[in-house]
Amino acid sequence: MTKDVSNTGVEVKVRDHFHDDAARFDAIYAKEKGLIAGFIDNYWRGVVQKRLEMNVEKLEPLTGKKILDVGCGSGRFCFAFAERGAAKVIGVDFAKAMIDIANKLATEMGLSQQCEFRVGTFPDAIDESEGPFDACTGNGFFDYVEHPIPIIARMRELTKGKLILSFPKAIEWRVPLRRVRFWMKGTPLFLYREQQVKDILAGAGVNQYEFIHLDRDYLVVADV
Ligand SMILES: C[S@@+](CC[C@H](N)C(=O)[O-])C[C@H]1O[C@@H](n2cnc3c(N)ncnc32)[C@H](O)[C@@H]1O
Repeated sequence: MTKDVSNTGVEVKVRDHFHDDAARFDAIYAKEKGLIAGFIDNYWRGVVQKRLEMNVEKLEPLTGKKILDVGCGSGRFCFAFAERGAAKVIGVDFAKAMIDIANKLATEMGLSQQCEFRVGTFPDAIDESEGPFDACTGNGFFDYVEHPIPIIARMRELTKGKLILSFPKAIEWRVPLRRVRFWMKGTPLFLYREQQVKDILAGAGVNQYEFIHLDRDYLVVADV
């Protein structure tokens, strides 16, 4: 990909990683897969599906809601919200190949009216006038964010309702291998301890929340 000078060094590395890895990432959501891929996705990346189910559960009823999904990837969360009645879902992601997949899937699923996908960096990609949203979600996203406080503060400002945010645990059995994999690829990875997440939330002005241990993640469901 061509380099974008408006992104930081970390953002450029993360964006290029997910641009190149988009199809493989989306395959995690595939229903039919081979024995080995199925085993790896269940035991290694099972959290991805659990997060999706928990987001839906916490945001129900979704009917009529307007939702912003930050770091939407291939749009799987957006589709789940739209299929359950969300009126409008905006997904933003700076990896173009992810948004290409999201747009293709939206057409195939007949969800293009409700789902709008945008290539861009959050928060710049979302204008104040587009809010407020009933909910704003960021799943599998803070793993790749160097400075989470201003990002969460902006998500809070744009939302009148719920924030759902996942943070990968720093102390967890899969961490050493995950660190090595990302180090070998040269992709930044940020992991968190429980108190660190709570300090970040306080720094972003998020004070009322449910704190859930979900597999290898902490999942925060906040009222804002
Ligand atoms: C692991 S993927 C998760 C995708 C989706 N939320 C899911 O769980 O299926 C993380 C995504 O965040 C995107 N991302 C990271 N930082 C971003 C930023 N500041 N602005 C927009 N997208 C970002 C990456 O390009 C990547 O596609």
